[in-house]
Amino acid sequence: VVSMSNIKRNDEFSTLTNQDIKHFKDILGGDDSSRMITDKDELEGFNQDWMKKYKGNSSLVLKPKTTDQVSKILSYCNQKKLAIVPQGGNTGLVGGSVPLFDEIILSLTNMNQIESFDDVTGVVTCQSGCVLETLESYLNAKGFTVPLDLGAKGSCHIGGNAATNAGGIRLLRYGSMHSNVLGIEAVLADGTIMDCNSTLRKDNTGYDLKHLFIGSEGTLGVITKISIITPPKPTSVNVALLACNDFNQIKQILIKAKKQLGDILSAFEFMDRPCIDYVLDHQSTAKEPFDKKSPFYVLIETSGFHEQHDAEKLNAFLENIMSEDLVLDGSLATDTKNISQFWKLRETITESLGKAGAVYKYDLSLPIDTFYSIVEVMREKLKDKAVVTGFGHVGDGNLHLNISTPKQKYSKEFLSNIEPFVYEYTSQQKGSISAEHGIGYMKTGQLHFSKSPASIQLMKLIKNSMDPNVL
Ligand code: FAD
Ligand code: MLT
Ligand code: ZN
Repeated sequence: VVSMSNIKRNDEFSTLTNQDIKHFKDILGGDDSSRMITDKDELEGFNQDWMKKYKGNSSLVLKPKTTDQVSKILSYCNQKKLAIVPQGGNTGLVGGSVPLFDEIILSLTNMNQIESFDDVTGVVTCQSGCVLETLESYLNAKGFTVPLDLGAKGSCHIGGNAATNAGGIRLLRYGSMHSNVLGIEAVLADGTIMDCNSTLRKDNTGYDLKHLFIGSEGTLGVITKISIITPPKPTSVNVALLACNDFNQIKQILIKAKKQLGDILSAFEFMDRPCIDYVLDHQSTAKEPFDKKSPFYVLIETSGFHEQHDAEKLNAFLENIMSEDLVLDGSLATDTKNISQFWKLRETITESLGKAGAVYKYDLSLPIDTFYSIVEVMREKLKDKAVVTGFGHVGDGNLHLNISTPKQKYSKEFLSNIEPFVYEYTSQQKGSISAEHGIGYMKTGQLHFSKSPASIQLMKLIKNSMDPNVL
């Protein structure tokens, strides 16, 4: 657990009283554990993040069911100066979803209703606490799909996804949450309900305020409802797993995949060999993909609607890259079981790294020409002090640099080997210190590596105008 000892609680914020709890009970219509949690053991899971890296000390979780209840809770907290942290599925990787001190946790878990779906426009409207996988199953049954997919789909909420502007493995094909969210209803700090929940594709009437909430990580308001445009679910899916010798081959394969696969290309992910080793060590059903081990692996997914045409396109592409000696080995999966085996190698990297010990995670956008260099630089710098791995959404220029110290705990001393170096390096490359995970608690002091002073000043002005009772 990362120590919070270097930051101080702001004593302008009040401390929770029994009278406050009574007031919340009245708003929620009772105090059973489906509406609020005060039991110490039950609070544990809400106070601690997914990585077990950050831990707060809240004594109250509120679980509203309606926007009106959220509004009443926020309005009361604003008047009483009670600090609050919104929490979705608590799968965030930057320490934004848990309290730092004794903030009240506002869990959106009970706001999980899907309200409407239009099969002509593909627009679905739901409450923000809908679990991504549940929404996916609902849409699949109607022949549609969520334009977003990530390894945490079984727990993360669609509201959490919007609040973090989550990227994931389909961004290459469908674009970000900014492209696909048509409307948002959010409750501001003073309890005002902001109805920006349009279902229109086009609406140029002034500032597009919903975008303020996308990627704002709960700092500007609590997202309560969301409308997303969803595409028809592809009927023909193929996945190729390739083994490569160096990163330059991956770059060449990416150029060709974009040209030759075009509109059916739906994912282009890479992982280096140490990632595969972690997965094989920690996932009992994962299998070594090829007879020989290789330094790099690429997972390419195509999704379309014409089985034969898609297969022909993919086969021609695979023949081309093989004839040009860009791959050491390759395998194609066309049935669900083999496809999920390949995806398992990629999607369980995070969990497997987490099982081994403390992991220092960096989620960077970097130019493709120097994309993998930071992994090599860090290996050279840390030598046998850590295992340095690289994987991620190479098709989107997003590297996940993970520095793992097996069987050890998070240590400030070890961190000084990595930070600020990694952030300085990324800044020099004109990259981003947070490609898709957000800022959270982890990177609040690091924003300047990717944003100009004028941008940070404008962000502060926006925050202050929407929530003046700020730390
Ligand atoms: P939480 O973790 O609960 O919260 C995240 C932040 O959003 C917090 O700051 C919280 O205060 C705020 N928040 C949550 N809900 C609301 C709301 N309704 N209104 C206002 N603010 C809110 N991320 C990616 O981008 N791409 C990936 O591929 C990816 N893969 C992952 C794989 C694994 C195995 C894991 C554990 C995580 C992964 N993540 C990934 C990170 C994480 O899943 C995403 O950031 C996700 O969007 C968080 O959603 P959540 O509901 O869990 O939000
Ligand atoms: C992923 O792409 O798997 C996620 O962003 C999680 C991670 O970075 O560990
Ligand atoms: Zn990712």
